[in-house]
Amino acid sequence: MVSLRRARQDDAADVAALLVELGYPDNEVDAVEQRLAMWAREPAGIVLVAQLNGRVVGTVAVTAIPYLEREGRWGRIVALVVSAECRGQGVGRQLVEAAEAAAGDLGCVTMEVTSARGRTESHPFYRSLGYQDWADRSTRYLKDLVPGALSRKYGARFPASP
Ligand SMILES: CC(C)(COP(=O)(O)OP(=O)(O)OC[C@H]1O[C@@H](n2cnc3c(N)ncnc32)[C@H](O)[C@@H]1OP(=O)(O)O)[C@@H](O)C(=O)NCCC(=O)NCCS
Repeated sequence: MVSLRRARQDDAADVAALLVELGYPDNEVDAVEQRLAMWAREPAGIVLVAQLNGRVVGTVAVTAIPYLEREGRWGRIVALVVSAECRGQGVGRQLVEAAEAAAGDLGCVTMEVTSARGRTESHPFYRSLGYQDWADRSTRYLKDLVPGALSRKYGARFPASP
């Protein structure tokens, strides 16, 4: 039986383990605890966890970004992961649906998520939930404000397509 709730600071160890599964091995529990505290104070965002049989097995973070050119905001899924042994049981779907509901409560009229090309599971997953791939209509530009911030965290993990 899956249940969802807001993440608490004492979920830090479980959330850190999930972030390691997502591919970010340098997530120390203390740092994740501080980030969860920051998210708890964030008025335009939320972190949720999914519990299966009382154990945290998934997490999603979503934030609401205001549009300027139109009314409303868009919700951006910042992170989503379900523990490998619990995939395929509807946990990810429930997390995304809860993230969408939270985004709706924050005034969002659309949703957005980016996912590395190499994440082969996530693309059919998002499509099955109604997300459309707009990569042929927009390009994603990124830039470091702190030197090396992108390359240290993502460069090796997500190499460019040949
Ligand atoms: C992507 C992820 C969150 C999906 O979570 P999940 O709990 O396994 O997904 P669900 O069981 O809720 O699947 C929902 C639907 O997505 C589709 N789906 C999920 N995984 C799929 C896969 N590997 N291949 C094809 N379709 C898949 C199915 O249509 C499924 O519908 P169904 O329940 O009617 O069969 C999970 O696989 C994961 O954590 N992957 C690694 C991290 C990752 O890629 N995160 C996303 C980063 S942007």
